[in-house]
Amino acid sequence: MDLSGKHILLGLTGGIACYKCAELCRLLVKAGATVQVVMTEGAVRFITPVTMQALSGRPVARSQWEDEAVGRTPDGMPHIHLGREADAILVAPCSADFIAQLAQGRTDELLALLCLARPAGRVPLLLAPAMNREMWAHPALQRNLAQVQADGAKSLGVGCGSQACGETGDGRMLEPAEILAELVSFFQPKPLAGQHVLVTAGPTFEAIDPVRGVTNHSSGKMGFAVARAAAEAGAEVTLVAGPVSQPTPRNVRRIDVQSGLQMLQATLDASQKATVFIAAAAVADWRPAEPSERKIKKTGDSGPPSLHFVENPDILATVAQGERARSGQLYCVGFAAESHDLLAHATAKRQRKGIPLLVANIGPTAFGRDDNELLLVDAHGAQSLERAPKIELARKLVVEIARRIAAAG
Ligand code: C5P
Repeated sequence: MDLSGKHILLGLTGGIACYKCAELCRLLVKAGATVQVVMTEGAVRFITPVTMQALSGRPVARSQWEDEAVGRTPDGMPHIHLGREADAILVAPCSADFIAQLAQGRTDELLALLCLARPAGRVPLLLAPAMNREMWAHPALQRNLAQVQADGAKSLGVGCGSQACGETGDGRMLEPAEILAELVSFFQPKPLAGQHVLVTAGPTFEAIDPVRGVTNHSSGKMGFAVARAAAEAGAEVTLVAGPVSQPTPRNVRRIDVQSGLQMLQATLDASQKATVFIAAAAVADWRPAEPSERKIKKTGDSGPPSLHFVENPDILATVAQGERARSGQLYCVGFAAESHDLLAHATAKRQRKGIPLLVANIGPTAFGRDDNELLLVDAHGAQSLERAPKIELARKLVVEIARRIAAAG
């Protein structure tokens, strides 16, 4: 589980987004974290401590003076202990007033007090702001937030859209699942910081006419997991995706394409800035030679049409033969789906494509599934990554790629 072993102090401040923090607490617990909830008096106006206690499985701490939290710390100093026990303090929703308190180092309530008293070098402070768009845009708020970030807190940002007040704009709290993704990402090591990773994923769709085409069953799950893992590892990530229904991972720039030719063009454009290229797409090997501009009609007398195919360009081989890859500025990684003799086929394919690293898997036990097993083949030999969820394998893969880039550089 993504947060197993982590203890999160979840702070709620006053705002209507408090109602979403019941779900957030649940997600944190499901991800394996233990959660200590601390609420301000403003937060208690919006959601009951009983709800948060039931979901976190612990009494909610509210005051440094007179509640259970004081009783649980023999020396009566919950503001010291609660912060030190945590692997991270997450304030969600984080109100404009709370940001102002943090900026000034004020300690009006237990939550602000324990944020100030936390050992800042060891216990990170993450904020999920939530407020009306005018409040968010106000120079006083932005000034305070800049100060709080300069003091070491991390703002997870805000969403844009309709607000409970009836207005539309920036300032919505991120959705609970987005906050969870940010937190999980925060705890990942950053071996790809400073790299720009380009990933292709999913199938391509090769048109026969405006309503029909040729494609394959690639779900895009492995490529999307690789893009997410690369972003978590600190890289700037561009994902060129064929037609799939996967959600875009956070902090990933996604370019949607349909055909192999479109994927080639988008990839060549993005490769100009990339330092790592990971080709996980299942590009169709062939495309109809002359797609019809109009729907081919079923006339009855002339029978079914005959289709002629031409070969699609090999995107990976094209990029690997380009100037950036040959001069060592772009590290290329390919994928191979085989049905048997994995090592022999992977070794041959790596050499044929002219790339330093090839990741092989058995197609029928990988397609569409949430787990997979991988064989990494490079010039020095092969290394297997045993069956695990695709996101876990993707995280291991980006560590391996980072190691090889560091060794080459
Ligand atoms: O040749 P094969 O399709 O087995 O090679 C698979 C690898 O090559 C994958 O990394 C895939 O993304 C890439 N590829 C490509 N363009 C193609 C065919 C495959 O980038 N036209």
